[in-house]
Amino acid sequence: TAVTATVAVRADTPGPTYDRRVFTQFAEHLGNGVYGGLWVGDDKSIPNTRGFRNDVVGALKGLGVPVIRWPGGCFADEYHWREGVGPQSKRPVKVNTNWGGVTEPNAVGTHEFMDLAEQIGAEAYISGNVGNGSPQEMAEWVEYMTAPAGTLADERAKNGHKEPWKVPYFGIGNELWGCGGSMRPEYAADVTRRYATFIKAPAGTRVMRIASGANVDDYRWTDVMTREVGPMVDAMSLHYYTVPGSWPPRASPTDFDETMWAETLAGALRMDELVTKHSAAMDKYDPQKRIWLAVDEWGTWYGQDPGTHPGFLRQQNSLRDALVASLTLDVFAKHADRVKMTAIAQMVNVLQAMILTEGPKMVLTPTYHVFKMYRPYMDATVLPVEINTPDFTRGKWTLPAVSASAVRDKAGKVHVALTNVDPNRAITVSMKLTGVTAAGVSGQIITAPKMTAINTFDAPNTVVPAAFSGARVSRDTLTVTLPSKSVVMLDLR
Ligand code: AHR
Repeated sequence: TAVTATVAVRADTPGPTYDRRVFTQFAEHLGNGVYGGLWVGDDKSIPNTRGFRNDVVGALKGLGVPVIRWPGGCFADEYHWREGVGPQSKRPVKVNTNWGGVTEPNAVGTHEFMDLAEQIGAEAYISGNVGNGSPQEMAEWVEYMTAPAGTLADERAKNGHKEPWKVPYFGIGNELWGCGGSMRPEYAADVTRRYATFIKAPAGTRVMRIASGANVDDYRWTDVMTREVGPMVDAMSLHYYTVPGSWPPRASPTDFDETMWAETLAGALRMDELVTKHSAAMDKYDPQKRIWLAVDEWGTWYGQDPGTHPGFLRQQNSLRDALVASLTLDVFAKHADRVKMTAIAQMVNVLQAMILTEGPKMVLTPTYHVFKMYRPYMDATVLPVEINTPDFTRGKWTLPAVSASAVRDKAGKVHVALTNVDPNRAITVSMKLTGVTAAGVSGQIITAPKMTAINTFDAPNTVVPAAFSGARVSRDTLTVTLPSKSVVMLDLR
């Protein structure tokens, strides 16, 4: 029997803006996330610009990455910025105690990161050290980066950058409940208030302060922090990873059955409940939704690829990850009034990465391609959708078979994203448009014959977008045949 679903796109009742900063990327000093993946220094065998690989920077430009969060993660709360400025040969070599116990050469420091952000065309989101740094150290870092004059500005100039940089976003520590200091929310709130006091932007500039947020479903954390810190910050963060199986992550990134597929995708959809409840906790003190919920770490976390360095969190990325990305980006559309920034973890070679590298080789992951398909969502207006879909069930996991979201971009063009999570059956979606007329429709699809399909250095085009011709328009109705396990982005004309 044919499987059908209906979707109503309500262009007559437009919602909030789908903030471009939802597509923020995260680059931590972790494994080959920075060293090897982005930075090759003076290795002439890999084409680079001032140390950053041209292939990777080029691919990231293709995504229009709006913001990059750096240098962590857990790394941030042990990072001392002074060790990463000045002549590279004089910088201390440290041990990366969080990630694999390898040496951290401090070759990529503030100047190098800012250069990377500029090469990509992204804004900087700097995570400060609350864990084992002082308020003075943090205040001086902000001053070093942003001050137009003074001793620290002179030092910055001496180190090669006369002009102050813009630091639009500053994180007051990371995971203060865990690797950032094992704090209780009451204590974290007081510490955050103290550190936030000393983050000062020069006249005429603004540094948005992002408080370290909750772990998964710790709503008490969000309640206490919003109550105590809310007036001093611009955003509360939230970290949630999709971890099929149990913690610590062990599940294979590439070898899974339909039950594990369902568990993973249902896990990704849990973001809806988490954001709803954290946002409600914030509503108590901030009903106007001035304070952003910044989901600045999300994505899949599996066991790492066999043979890779322990602690490097290197994992392959399959068609399943493409669907995790589309389902999550659809969830963020529902919560666009509160969720103005999110960062998938992480940009290169770590967890649910956009890009994998090995020596000079590079491959774009299925997740990269989904991010590219959703690019028209940046700063577009969310159009509410009503979905009527059958469920998809495997084992104890049940989730809606169809996910959808829609936006109208600045040029007036409507884009509709549809995902079919069923790995075996096509679904015909009958889509009713209200408040928009479509003369025609085109689109892109990403899918593959197998749900475990991946892109490799030798076969980089197994899971890539292709032109989609399965949609028909008739007046105010679109009929779309969604192949099994696919993500489709439709552009209405
Ligand atoms: O992204 C990997 C780690 O996950 C980050 O360093 C930390 O913030 C989180 O626990």
